[in-house]
Amino acid sequence: MRKNRILVAAGVALATFGSVASTNLAEETSLKKIFKDDFYIGAALNHRQATGQDPKAEAIIAQHFSTISPENLLKWESVHPQPTTFNYKPADAYVALGKKHKQFIVGHALVWHQQTPKWVFEDEAGQPAIKEQLLKRQTEHIMAVAGRYKGQINGWDVVNEALNDDGTMRQSKWYKIAGDDFLANAYQTAQKADPKAELYYNDYNLWKPAKRDGAIKLVKSLQAKGLKVTGIGMQGHWGLESPSIQQIEESIVAFSKLGNVMITELDIDVLPNPSNRAGADIDATFEFDQKYNVYTNGLPNEVQQKLAKRYADIFTLFHKHRDKITRVTFWGVTDADSWLNDWPIKGRTSYPLIFDRNYQPKPALQAIVQAVKKEKS
Ligand code: XIL
Repeated sequence: MRKNRILVAAGVALATFGSVASTNLAEETSLKKIFKDDFYIGAALNHRQATGQDPKAEAIIAQHFSTISPENLLKWESVHPQPTTFNYKPADAYVALGKKHKQFIVGHALVWHQQTPKWVFEDEAGQPAIKEQLLKRQTEHIMAVAGRYKGQINGWDVVNEALNDDGTMRQSKWYKIAGDDFLANAYQTAQKADPKAELYYNDYNLWKPAKRDGAIKLVKSLQAKGLKVTGIGMQGHWGLESPSIQQIEESIVAFSKLGNVMITELDIDVLPNPSNRAGADIDATFEFDQKYNVYTNGLPNEVQQKLAKRYADIFTLFHKHRDKITRVTFWGVTDADSWLNDWPIKGRTSYPLIFDRNYQPKPALQAIVQAVKKEKS
């Protein structure tokens, strides 16, 4: 389950930075080289990026990333909108792009309560589907989609967000209709569709102790049934202050006892919002209000530095636990692409990533590089 590691190249790469003039740093730096012996590093690609319509983003992807994730194009509503209609074109392009750049290709997500068409949960008369019918649909979907990319998509988020924040099971249509079998059937089928693919459980707020315990219980019970769950993906939709490094660390350590740990969907929200929201419930939205859209003319230097420091701290932690972490994926390439421009409030100007709207690296990128250099020495 663990990767073999040879800890040499990154140190050499870093040593050269000292002698490179700062103007050249952007061209010289490559995150995937820096983390080569530690973990895959990557980003989620949107439709334009996956289908070759954003060459500047593709240059970043090629230079910096060793793994890619599909932001939306492999979700059920995108790839399988009608019972007999599959829309594979964007996903085919996405997979081809990953192969071209020799990247570890992730699939997201086979089973989720969001972005799944209504018909999935209904019978022909529009009444709630019965368990057998729902599981049959799930099986057919997974066999078709994971089967098509067998040997090409290297790891799948099989089930996404099955838990509430208190660690109990989310009362989704999946759970209400099929109970725990919706999980067991999903992992069993995914393994059948592609026996070699890594299979993950993925969720947000997994730093919360109750939810962490819930995830451990869930994954353990699947593994106890003989099902393959190779790792846990911690969505990294975090803030400038919260969660604490210690909270994140406790979950990384706890999850590593069950399998690989991945930080998926990393972005740091720097904007205020009307609640103490944490996590990423895509239904938890608010009306637009200019008072929460505070940096329309650019990110003030002070906040920019805070963001850089936050990323440095987070990556120092990841690097410390590089024997447990197999992948770190940003949820988007540049700030312009981030879903946080529209969530939890539509139409804001967000700054959560490490490349700006002009495809330039932000101070956070250099801060990550420096932090890792320090960790290594
Ligand atoms: C988001 C996408 O980024 C948006 O473009 C889309 O409108 C909604 O979904 N948790 C997940 C991701 O697992 O799939 C979600 O992605 C963000 C929260």
